[in-house]
Amino acid sequence: MYTRNSTETWLPFEQTVALLEGASLPGLVFGSGMAAVAAALSLVPDGGVLVLPQHTYQTALGHVGREAVKHGWEVRLVDIADTAAVVAALDGVGTGGAGRAGSPLTSRPADVLHMESPTNPMLEVADLPALLAAARERGVRTIVDNTFATPLVQQPLAWGADVVLHSATKYLAGHSDVVLGVIVTDDAALREELHAYRSFHGAIAGPFEVWLALRGLRTLHLRVERSQANAVELARRLYAHPGVAEVRHPSLVGDPGHERATAHMLGYGSIIGLRPRTMSGRTPAQTADAVVAAMDLWLPATSLGGVASTLVRRRRFATDSPPVPDDLIRLSVGVEDVDDLWDDLDTALHSVACTTAAA
Ligand SMILES: Cc1ncc(COP(=O)(O)O)c(C=O)c1O
Repeated sequence: MYTRNSTETWLPFEQTVALLEGASLPGLVFGSGMAAVAAALSLVPDGGVLVLPQHTYQTALGHVGREAVKHGWEVRLVDIADTAAVVAALDGVGTGGAGRAGSPLTSRPADVLHMESPTNPMLEVADLPALLAAARERGVRTIVDNTFATPLVQQPLAWGADVVLHSATKYLAGHSDVVLGVIVTDDAALREELHAYRSFHGAIAGPFEVWLALRGLRTLHLRVERSQANAVELARRLYAHPGVAEVRHPSLVGDPGHERATAHMLGYGSIIGLRPRTMSGRTPAQTADAVVAAMDLWLPATSLGGVASTLVRRRRFATDSPPVPDDLIRLSVGVEDVDDLWDDLDTALHSVACTTAAA
């Protein structure tokens, strides 16, 4: 009828993502992950209460800040790994997470719970089955940004999520050559509402990009399997490295997210958080920048989830939130040979952080 509403080129991608997420209705493709986030958050009513992780993807948080002013939302930021605090925030009681900004201002129950797990970039793991059940009991609508896990690792609809979304720019497309988003829901009325949002706002996906993403989806299982295996091995080696002060990956037995990830996820994801040992005479941020600059095979890049391994010091962006450590390097592990990836990391860490440790 009219390609702003839907096209035959979008449909195979929308159907495939829905199948992967376990939905019976086709997904809805958007021009970017942020377009999908904005569409999903349009479900928060005017004057409504929104609960979301303090470490939600930074641009999504920025969007929430702007919309909250326009629509009179009360926004409660929570530590998503603290299940009791999130439930308290849903009920409008307590501080919603150790008295942080975003604590309940009123005792009104929440309207929408938006979640990421693992979070970007702190890799906190939420107890999604428990939180989705708690939200459902209370009639709170739920949105899960499943970008970091992929549907091969967790399927939040099966735990009762109303809406699941992805930045398809990342793992779903998988080759760092498109910007796309997608939403999946099994609720026909919600799908209708989100479809109308997409048509009325009109910022739709290009058919060629969607075709590329469909091509990428065909290797999702191979890419996820390989990049996760690489990440587990690299996290293990980094943990024992003298140039490393801290490494975060849910595969590590001591990681705060380990037990939950083992219980609920079919893998640990392929994002690693790394803090190098600080060089003498340099700040933690300068040390982390020096490590990034010393890498050869790994590409310095903001995006993630592609076949090529990339890394970035998150706080180099002024928009990233202060609770994120200044020297946190986010590694997105790709599908290359694990020893090649290790050699590069090891050499960079030795040339920067280890000289320090000895000094
Ligand atoms: C978890 C998460 N959600 C959403 C987005 C936004 O996606 P896009 O860049 O495709 O707009 C990102 C981008 O980095 C992300 O990491």
